[in-house]
Amino acid sequence: LGQSIHYFEEVNSTNNVAKEIAASEEEGTLVIAEIQKGGRGRMGREWVSPHGGIWMSVILKPGIPLRHASRLTLVTGLAVANVIRNMGLDARIKWPNDVRINGKKVCGILTEAKAEVDRVEYVVLGIGINVNMDLKDIPESFRTGSTTLKVELGRHIKRVSFLQDFLLELEQQYINFKTQPFSHILNDWLALSDTIGREVKVTTPSRIIEGKAVGVTPDGALIIRKADDTKEEIIAGRCIYVRP
Ligand code: BTN
Repeated sequence: LGQSIHYFEEVNSTNNVAKEIAASEEEGTLVIAEIQKGGRGRMGREWVSPHGGIWMSVILKPGIPLRHASRLTLVTGLAVANVIRNMGLDARIKWPNDVRINGKKVCGILTEAKAEVDRVEYVVLGIGINVNMDLKDIPESFRTGSTTLKVELGRHIKRVSFLQDFLLELEQQYINFKTQPFSHILNDWLALSDTIGREVKVTTPSRIIEGKAVGVTPDGALIIRKADDTKEEIIAGRCIYVRP
C-alpha cells in the first residue's frame, strides 16, 4: 500500500479525490492532504481537518461482495488502534469505527464503496487522525470528546514515520483479511473494542435503539439486546454509551 501517493496541500475531501481517480488507479494508491476544507464524517457530519492531522484515503480493490465492504472499516480501525498502541497509548475501538484514547476520539474512518451488481469495484478508506494539533486548534463545538496524539503523549509526533508504520500495519491486516477467515480479525477487533457489554443508545436515520451491546455479526453489525430481551442487529448508526 502507498506505492503511489497523491499529495495535496489543500483539498475539499481526500475521499472525494480518491473516488474521482479510483477507477483508473492501482490498488493501494493513497490520497493525502495537509488540510481539508470539506472534510466529511459519517452520517453526513462535518470532519474538522486543520494542519497537523493526517487526512488520507486509501484505494482498495478487494473484489468482495458489497455486503462485506463494512468489514474493511473494522480492519482499518484495528490497524489504527494497533499502531497507536505500539506508541504506548491505550487505544480502544468504539463501534463501528472510532479509535479512542481514554474515552476521547483520536481517529475516525469513513468507508465508501462503488459496486457493480454485488461486486465491489473499489473501496475508499477515508482515515482521519488527530496527530499534532493542540486542543485549541479544534473548534470548540467539536472539542469535547476529542483528543490528539500530541495531547495524549505530550510531545510532537513525526507524521511521516507514523504513516509508514500505519501503512505497514494496514497492509498486514489487509493480507490477513484476504487470506484468513474473518473471524480471526473480528476476534482481534473485539479484544480492542470497549463497546461490547455496555449499555448503548444507537441512533440511525430512522430510529433510536437502546439496550446492551452484546456482540457484532461477521459483517460488523452491532448486536443489541433490548429491555424486552429481543435482539437487534444494526448495520450503521451513531453509538453513544449510556454510562461513560
Ligand atoms: C467519522 O468518524 O465520522 C469519520 C471521519 C472520517 C474523516 C476522514 S479524513 C480523510 C477522509 N476524507 C474525508 O472527507 N473524510 C475522511
